[in-house]
Amino acid sequence: MMPKAPSPAPEAVLFDAYGTLFDVYSVGLAAEQLFAGQGTALATLWRDKQIEYTRLCSMSGQYRPFWELTRAGLRFAALRLGLVLERAAEDRLMNQYRHLSAFPENREVLAALRTRGIRAGILSNGDPEMLAVAVKSAGFSALIDPVLSAHAVQRFKTDPAVYALGPQALGLPAHKILFVSSNGWDAIGATWYGYTTLWVNRAGAPLEQLDTEPTRTGRSLREVLDFFPDA
Ligand code: LAC
Repeated sequence: MMPKAPSPAPEAVLFDAYGTLFDVYSVGLAAEQLFAGQGTALATLWRDKQIEYTRLCSMSGQYRPFWELTRAGLRFAALRLGLVLERAAEDRLMNQYRHLSAFPENREVLAALRTRGIRAGILSNGDPEMLAVAVKSAGFSALIDPVLSAHAVQRFKTDPAVYALGPQALGLPAHKILFVSSNGWDAIGATWYGYTTLWVNRAGAPLEQLDTEPTRTGRSLREVLDFFPDA
């Protein structure tokens, strides 16, 4: 029997990686150990600058791998906060970023999709190498396919060329693919592209004020499964 799926019913799922499957703010703990009282500020500014650099490089045709921009963002954030970032500390934080923790509910959701025969992949700004390490260290290798990287088009989300990788790889129109992101801006970019979207608003952030709403908004990855009831 067909599930009572929303219209249009998605046939596959693509997840954003950083902030959605992998907890980017988990680096705050290591940052706090290195710079007492400044860990959260460093982690937050680092993330913001990393994303800002993706946009700067993408818009100017100056592509650099996400790993390099992550390091550049860290260096800027430390400078901005007046922190002396020795090479050993930088390497420790970058290493932490390489092995981010996954949000606790994710395994169960990925396993449930697998059981239901729904293909689940990643569509991320991350470069292939860092994504491969992250997927492997989270133990998701058997649960995620395909892993699509912005590296293939040398641009970053929200450039439509990046979102186009999903339909190309899956052989489905965008509206038949559920794109899931915890980043509000990414959920909006994907909605504009034509995906069915779920914004996992873990942080309770306000909606981007751009007269566009994701198909649905939730608070945890579990809400992905609501798109596939009784499957
Ligand atoms: C990614 C960033 C945007 O994984 O979170 O694409």
